[in-house]
Amino acid sequence: MSTARLTRVSGALAEAEPLPQCALYELARVGQRGLLAEVIRLRGPTATLQIYEETAGLVLGEPVAPTGAALTVGLGPGLLGSILDGVGRPLGRLAEQSGDFLAPGVTAETLDPESRWAFTPALAAGARVSPGDVLGSVEERPGIRHSILVPPGISGELARLDAGTFSLADPVATLTDGRTLGLVQRWPVRRPRPVARRLPDDRPFVTGQRVFDLLFPAAEGGSIVVPGGFGTGKTVIEQSLAKYGDADIVVYVGCGERGNEMAEVLHEFPRLTDPATGRSLMDRTVMVVNTSNMPVAAREASIYLGITIAEYYRDMGYRVALLADSLSRWAEALREISARLAEMPGEEGYPTYLATRLGQFFERAGRVTALGSPSRTGAVTVVAAVSPPGGDFSEPVTQAALRISGALWALDPALAHQRQFPAVDWSMSYSLYARRLETWFESQAHSDWGELRRETLALLQRGQELRDIAGLVGPEALQGTDRLLLETARVIQEFVLGQSAYDSNDAHSPVAKTALLAGLALQLQRHAQALLASGVAFEQLDLGPVRRALALVRSAPVAAVEARAAEAAFCIAGLSRAAAT
Ligand SMILES: Nc1ncnc2c1ncn2[C@@H]1O[C@H](COP(=O)(O)OP(=O)(O)OP(=O)(O)O)[C@@H](O)[C@H]1O
Ligand SMILES: [Mg+2]
Repeated sequence: MSTARLTRVSGALAEAEPLPQCALYELARVGQRGLLAEVIRLRGPTATLQIYEETAGLVLGEPVAPTGAALTVGLGPGLLGSILDGVGRPLGRLAEQSGDFLAPGVTAETLDPESRWAFTPALAAGARVSPGDVLGSVEERPGIRHSILVPPGISGELARLDAGTFSLADPVATLTDGRTLGLVQRWPVRRPRPVARRLPDDRPFVTGQRVFDLLFPAAEGGSIVVPGGFGTGKTVIEQSLAKYGDADIVVYVGCGERGNEMAEVLHEFPRLTDPATGRSLMDRTVMVVNTSNMPVAAREASIYLGITIAEYYRDMGYRVALLADSLSRWAEALREISARLAEMPGEEGYPTYLATRLGQFFERAGRVTALGSPSRTGAVTVVAAVSPPGGDFSEPVTQAALRISGALWALDPALAHQRQFPAVDWSMSYSLYARRLETWFESQAHSDWGELRRETLALLQRGQELRDIAGLVGPEALQGTDRLLLETARVIQEFVLGQSAYDSNDAHSPVAKTALLAGLALQLQRHAQALLASGVAFEQLDLGPVRRALALVRSAPVAAVEARAAEAAFCIAGLSRAAAT
């Protein structure tokens, strides 16, 4: 067959022919420099290629060689702690090879081929194995066991399985038919990894952020979208979830727009400490990053790479949080590619399949029973930030993400402007998981969790209505009971929902503390309401000491929260005495 040659180049896209045997999404090497590319359209002998590297200098007529394989990632020990580009190349080792600016065509395996791992078998020769079975494990990072799984599609009888120290190229197991299995398996990133069974969303992904856990809880294995305009706190939320969210493993997919944005993340993230262990958070994190000098095509691939890695750890039985910041940059990459393909544009120039693609991505979230034995339950929870231009949520990416996610955490620039963080617009946000998760919260946090949630929301709602009225007639014109409601809503906003990421005692709120603070606000409302009913005037209520007591609960070290809460409760009860004197 004659060598395929480039017939057209336009930005990150190129056409080559003849490539009649090529498959969709097959990888190819383009040009003399062997640039990495993926086949994204086939028409007769002509293949359209999406090139993952800088294409300047490519000339028509240069050769194109299909590789026969799809964009895959090597999955095995050593992923944790790594920082990968959108197609799975480790930035660290790439830089060692070619300096800070990647030379074209440079490749580096996702996993370090030099690394060696002490493998402990879990089975022995003679065992029959099938997909997903645990062959054994290595200790990938302190305290984190990495199970070596039989890859999907492979079954047979073990002829041997060895303990010992192995490189990634060594076989650790041999089947009776002669096939060998090693520490690494490859997986095409665009295809979901198979599972035995999907499980219902009846457990929470506890975030440690009061506004989410109490009002808009996330399910473990759920998908949450976080739209917010410029500077509303998306990145801070994602980082708080990475640190305090109740997950074993974190996969952080960063699609930066501004060049320095990813640089900040790359600088900051590796310095975060894991509050659970005191060690670096990178010990249980994989980062996939796209800086603005990387081609759009790599950005488009990055979310699939990220979720494939997340699924792989899920399959070992881990609870994984996939944090994407932000999907808008991914969607823009999709739009750019689609435009160059001269496809029929949909809304605002995004391709008509935007929603389908987003849906396919979100569908890979879930809590599952993994394939194989011993039985394992794992989860991938997706929390995706979206940056709608101008903060306008009616734009296509936000809308498409909304339709397929289970919860919405909408961020409000007005709150961010008042430095009310997390700047969550509670009137717009929702969680479809809230009802189902109540049972868990009621058994684990507070027996009246559902009531706490509903009453808190009702008070916020009532406060909002009264604020609107007070805006028209002035607060003095309101009755005492209404002024009290306004005040309680403010207290909830400030002391229950408000939570600073920079207060080391409050950046993470255990569910018990969340329940205590919410309970105190409701107690304040009930008690003060009773006082008003008994004839005390609103002006006689001195809420200053209560507010100060609540601030102390909020910022108390974990061990002191209960004692501070008891003092605040005493202070609330004391309102009557103060009012009576
Ligand atoms: N929970 C929080 N506690 C305290 N401060 C916060 C919190 N969330 C956000 N902030 C403040 O708001 C600033 C902007 O937050 P952040 O960078 O997360 O916004 P963003 O939505 O990611 O912005 P961009 O659109 O530029 O990506 C932070 O630098 C910080 O000062
Ligand atoms: Mg940001």
